[in-house]
Amino acid sequence: MFIYRLISILSKLIRIRTKYTRLELIGLIIFIGLLLNIFSLHYFFQCSSLTNHEKSLSFISKSKDLNNNPISTIERSRKALEKLKILLNSVMSSNDQPWIWLPTSEYPSIPYQPTSLLNQHIPKPINNHTIVPQSVKNEINRVCQRLNKANQVYGDIWCKLFTKSYADTLATTTTLLDDNTTYIITGDIDLMWLRDSSAQVHQYMMSISNDKDIQRIIEGLIRRQTKFIYSNPYASSFRLTLRPNPPSDDSLEPIHIQKGRNIHVAMHNYELDSLCYHLRLSYTWWKQTKRINPFNQQWLIAVNIIIQIMIIEQHHSQISPYRYTELGNNHQGSPVAYTGMTWTGFRPSDDKTKFGYLIPSNMMATVVLKQSAEMIKEIFPEQIELLKEIEQLRVDILSGIHTYGVVKHDKYGQIYAYETDGFSQSLLIDDANVPSLLSASYLGFKTPYDPQDQLIISTRNFILSKDNPLFYQGQYAYGIGSHHTPIEYVWPMSIIMEGLTNNSKENLDSVWQRLEASHVETFSMHESFNVNNPKEFTRHWFAWVNSLSAELILVHLDDLENWLKNRRSD
Ligand SMILES: *[C@@H]1O[C@H](CO)[C@@H](O)[C@H](O)[C@H]1NC(C)=O
Ligand SMILES: *[C@@H]1O[C@H](CO)[C@@H](O)[C@H](O)[C@H]1NC(C)=O
Ligand SMILES: *[C@@H]1O[C@H](CO)[C@@H](O)[C@H](O)[C@H]1NC(C)=O
Repeated sequence: MFIYRLISILSKLIRIRTKYTRLELIGLIIFIGLLLNIFSLHYFFQCSSLTNHEKSLSFISKSKDLNNNPISTIERSRKALEKLKILLNSVMSSNDQPWIWLPTSEYPSIPYQPTSLLNQHIPKPINNHTIVPQSVKNEINRVCQRLNKANQVYGDIWCKLFTKSYADTLATTTTLLDDNTTYIITGDIDLMWLRDSSAQVHQYMMSISNDKDIQRIIEGLIRRQTKFIYSNPYASSFRLTLRPNPPSDDSLEPIHIQKGRNIHVAMHNYELDSLCYHLRLSYTWWKQTKRINPFNQQWLIAVNIIIQIMIIEQHHSQISPYRYTELGNNHQGSPVAYTGMTWTGFRPSDDKTKFGYLIPSNMMATVVLKQSAEMIKEIFPEQIELLKEIEQLRVDILSGIHTYGVVKHDKYGQIYAYETDGFSQSLLIDDANVPSLLSASYLGFKTPYDPQDQLIISTRNFILSKDNPLFYQGQYAYGIGSHHTPIEYVWPMSIIMEGLTNNSKENLDSVWQRLEASHVETFSMHESFNVNNPKEFTRHWFAWVNSLSAELILVHLDDLENWLKNRRSD
């Protein structure tokens, strides 16, 4: 810009040259020539000698800082790592090593197996059979009465579907423990995921949160998640203890230990959304009940740990201590540039990310950061420093999503990418697992950069079309699948999400119809099914999707009733 201005001034000078002698003009031209030369040399120098890392640094130093604090973002990430170590040390027993280790050339041969884990007391189940609370039974009766009245034949099918969906988590996956915590497994895999367990109880928060049993279960879950986060905040799924019978990795062979597993950590896959789900569970419970019992000092430390990890992972390539055997580039994952977003190694499908910035998980992060700030302001108002960190992080991620996560598509215009590396590569897909691009508005994502949600709408048009490589259409259904399951298999979770993000009658009618086609007399939702033969499906017992389907039915019960009333019994 400056150079253009100089040239235009120069041409003006030449036009009014009568006012100047020729000598003065020549002098001026030489002076300007010199200036230009210095600029271009400087520019050339910058381009040729700075590494990508330094380039991202020079970009960063210009980024807006809420604290008016000249500290660079990389310095922030470095400090976050120091804080994380202090926080983790504060929750370990004194003679123990924290889980964290400095990356060395020997990794992954250095196992992490804190000695205290091996000696600690494992909480016992309070009883051997799960008791489904009365409030859950009452809710099932209320919904079934309406469905049966709407249509005698199909109402019964939907009543069975709702009964199974709504109660599944409590009836089949929940164990109350004698340390006041709650252990909730995902279903056919006997492990507790932070993500799944949070989503599995979400439907109970809508109407029955004043039930004492529900309070014990959900508050116990929050406490158990806190303990698991202490034991390894980069992990996604956990177990109470090793179970006696392999086939799985319960024998903890060296190969499992190399993957970062120990008696409690079943998967050391770092999935940003796992941490987000803990914050979402906490916030939804607090907002719904105003109960603060589970939100004590222990919880605050866990939240602080989560925030420090997200800040560290804004500079993954330079600062992160996270390594995982399955990741390339010396177990660190492929390089990423600084964007303001926070890195993740894995998607909510448990598959590796292709490019480290997963846009849907970052969208979810901005939502839960805002929610956490609201909670902390009220429960721990003295946490000024933490609140500042949360707000800075949120603003950085929002700006990163907008600057690096939006791409121009020939057919759909500006849309959100699924992943990007912050350099120039991005991935245009949507995967069924939540958080997905489709679920952004369900999770509450809102950005000042897109006040009319135009990007959300254009992105939706893209992901629900055959231009999304994971979109499949067949004889019985259409929808979005996943790299996690075979091609031509769509996920009921994603069909449900279509219903939870667009309440037009036409859309919901198609959702009910596709879900009804998917259960094939099992009266439960599956992970995925073949669009040309729903009898071919994956995971017969997957509690997360059952919870989501119960939520959909509760949210759109009027619509389901109307659809059933007009449904022919053929
Ligand atoms: C649960 O079952 C196991 C074995 O069947 C038994 O040893 C244990 O005492 C039972 N626990 C309770 C709380 O009933
Ligand atoms: C469990 O909760 C009860 C009631 O809040 C409390 O009295 C008890 O001390 C708690 N037990 C443990 C092990 O935290
Ligand atoms: C909602 O779904 C209906 C029917 O499929 C469609 O016509 C409408 O455009 C959708 N709205 C949005 C905002 O996507």
